[in-house]
Amino acid sequence: MPALHPTLKAELHLSDGRKIELPVYQSHLGFDAIGVEKLQKEQLFTFDQGLTSTALCESSITYIDGDQGILLHRGYPIDELAFNKTYLDVAYLLLKGELPNEEELKAFKAEICSHYMVNEQFTRLFQGFRRDSHPMAVMCAASSALAAFYHEYYDEDPEKAHDKTAIRLLAKMPTLAAMCYKYSIGRPFMYPQYHLSYAGNFLYMMFATPCEPYVVNPVIERAMDRIFTLHADHEQNASTSAVRGVASSGPNPFACISAGIASLWGPAHGGANEACIKMLEEIGTVDRIPEFIARAKDKNDPFRLMGFGHRVYKNYDPRAKVMRETCHEVLKELGINTPLLQVAMELERIALSDPYFIERKLYPNVDFYSGIILQAIGIPTSMFTVIFALGRTVGWVANWRELNEEPMKIVRPRQIYTGHTERHIK
Ligand code: CMC
Repeated sequence: MPALHPTLKAELHLSDGRKIELPVYQSHLGFDAIGVEKLQKEQLFTFDQGLTSTALCESSITYIDGDQGILLHRGYPIDELAFNKTYLDVAYLLLKGELPNEEELKAFKAEICSHYMVNEQFTRLFQGFRRDSHPMAVMCAASSALAAFYHEYYDEDPEKAHDKTAIRLLAKMPTLAAMCYKYSIGRPFMYPQYHLSYAGNFLYMMFATPCEPYVVNPVIERAMDRIFTLHADHEQNASTSAVRGVASSGPNPFACISAGIASLWGPAHGGANEACIKMLEEIGTVDRIPEFIARAKDKNDPFRLMGFGHRVYKNYDPRAKVMRETCHEVLKELGINTPLLQVAMELERIALSDPYFIERKLYPNVDFYSGIILQAIGIPTSMFTVIFALGRTVGWVANWRELNEEPMKIVRPRQIYTGHTERHIK
């Protein structure tokens, strides 16, 4: 990564007469950043709740322009990648910086295949859970458990260790996710199949049984691959920042990914696709939509339209455009037109034409459409965020690798203390 050089200077004038000069670092695209490290020496911190105006790191992986609705991975627009490349191409791009040629992709896929299986001991780990456990809880535990199987990471040459960690995670996460699902419904685990595509193998492990042959539907396979691709990375979101934050103290990488899964679980982040389907089910029929729109607008009601709005995109989410098209392809292929879908489509129409949503730039986000696709495919709602986690794993690993390539600095934010001043026990 190129070293940061300040291009401009900023001056901070305090009303007590202090003047502090700060460096301004230039981004290749987007906003520049004021370096505030020096403030500590002046006994000052910055206060930025939710870190909305703070760059946590320097990165060359992904760029988002939320106002323009742009998402680039290593410079390539997301729609170009989603329509022309597979998830494994994009994973290679995120990890290595360039798209693979045919040979490189073949070798990459072969290596991933060779790591698809998980240690047979994992079957016992699953047996320790209640069948109705939330799959995200099980995934947090299962990804952490990988750390217990792969200690040797610490002894290897870092470059080799980073590559192997990335491959293992990409390979084993779908296997663990499918095991989660099979365990929850009391069906036998299905071993991965090398001859299938990455998405096809996941669908096989999810839906095949030992009793009959399973044929992967190419439309569903492509939709699954796009869902993985569209979730692959998204700059310094909550879960990626969690991975970086945990990784900054140097623990085992599989444990860092587990932190990302935990963060993703929340309904304001990856849990939104699950929350969105629950909301559509609660609305139930088109005639009840006005009541829910009114609730979404009511300041005294905490209800929000799930699957609408985004912290960064104040324009149409470029991933949602691709997902919308894919959603219609899947619904056509499966001949689905359920009341839930009618509610979703009408909600989309109203939100895109209602001044409340237009003024606040609240567009349907990627989770709105991914939830509908996943439901149509037959994936239970509780697994939706797990699917998001599968796609995002490569983004977490790419960020983890990037962090490890630089001299490590532990993430240690400060606070504005508003508690008691010193007091004593009487
Ligand atoms: N429904 C109704 N009103 C909303 C919504 C919504 N979904 N989202 C934001 N608003 C309103 C909010 O009440 C506020 O109104 P006002 O200016 O009158 O006070 C205004 O829009 C700005 O809201 P905000 O809370 O400042 O926006 P934010 O950028 O902090 O929140 C968000 C972003 C994604 C947390 C929020 O839009 C939300 O809760 N959406 C629903 C959950 C969801 O779909 N999350 C998935 C995000 S995409 C997946 C991912 O990348 O993780």
